[in-house]
Amino acid sequence: MKNILVIGANGQIGTDLVAALRQKYTPQRVIASDIKEPTRFDAHFKLLDATDKEAVRQILIDFDIDEVYLMAAILSASAEKIPDKAWEINMKVLFNALELSKEGFINKLFWPSSIAVFGPHTPRIDTPQYTVMDPNTVYGISKLAGERWIEYYNNHYDVDVRSVRYPGIISWKTLPGGGTTDYAVEIFHEALQNRHYTSFLAPHTRLPMMYMPDAIEATINIMEADKEKLRIKNSYNIAGISFTPEELATAIQQYLPDFSIDYQPDFRQAIAESWPESINDAYAFKDWHWHHKYDLDAMVRDMLQNLSNKYPKEESLLL
Ligand code: SER
Repeated sequence: MKNILVIGANGQIGTDLVAALRQKYTPQRVIASDIKEPTRFDAHFKLLDATDKEAVRQILIDFDIDEVYLMAAILSASAEKIPDKAWEINMKVLFNALELSKEGFINKLFWPSSIAVFGPHTPRIDTPQYTVMDPNTVYGISKLAGERWIEYYNNHYDVDVRSVRYPGIISWKTLPGGGTTDYAVEIFHEALQNRHYTSFLAPHTRLPMMYMPDAIEATINIMEADKEKLRIKNSYNIAGISFTPEELATAIQQYLPDFSIDYQPDFRQAIAESWPESINDAYAFKDWHWHHKYDLDAMVRDMLQNLSNKYPKEESLLL
């Protein structure tokens, strides 16, 4: 029986991850932590500033933690507004966890990387695992540096750190915060509430995305994979679905015919244009049998179904 700590448990991915881990393992053995109090009471929650190494160490000791999922980070759009602070936070939380792994307080660590590690000179379509990487956002630079460091720790010290490069993640439980791919979540809330969305990305901006259940499966599967089979010591490419704001709007219109969209691209457009359109995940498929399940239509249907419970009953929702 292992004890698990999720850092950044109130975030978009953390919320779903804690729920999935508690369903899979003993609920009281999955400790949720975040820098902010959760909105709902949780008996197994601890306030934690992950930039404070001694505070992290104390929780690891108090709960006899074996595995850590480090989900705390400043995302791409937010990081551009506070470059030095975002760099400091993103690197500090990672180094604290790497050092505590090296000191023997963590047996297995999950740390997510991102499609943001790629840049304008990366081949944009079917982006390979090994390719040009020239990120030009603070977030991307911190993720690429982090990838190099986890490989270094995996190779030089007796630690076990695992990682995937998340694409944009779409989910209904918790809103994302400060990312370039956030439009793909906001659009659903606006569609159900106001029948209209103004996209901050241009109509034909294609980006790699993934529905949350697939992202959670990838995360838990790589943590459960046989260590010997994991050839990639930095971070695995994982692919889901790729679509544009226009294609997503059309998919939503199938169920909400009176939904409309217009476009007012802002500074996030340049970030999106520096990232891939689609990802090649052959290594993840070979090494730990990764394959996504949700296509665009299945994701849109499930999102609308779940969110329609949150907003007043929609008579024109054709589900
Ligand atoms: N969804 C993230 C962002 O937009 C990418 O990792 O910042």
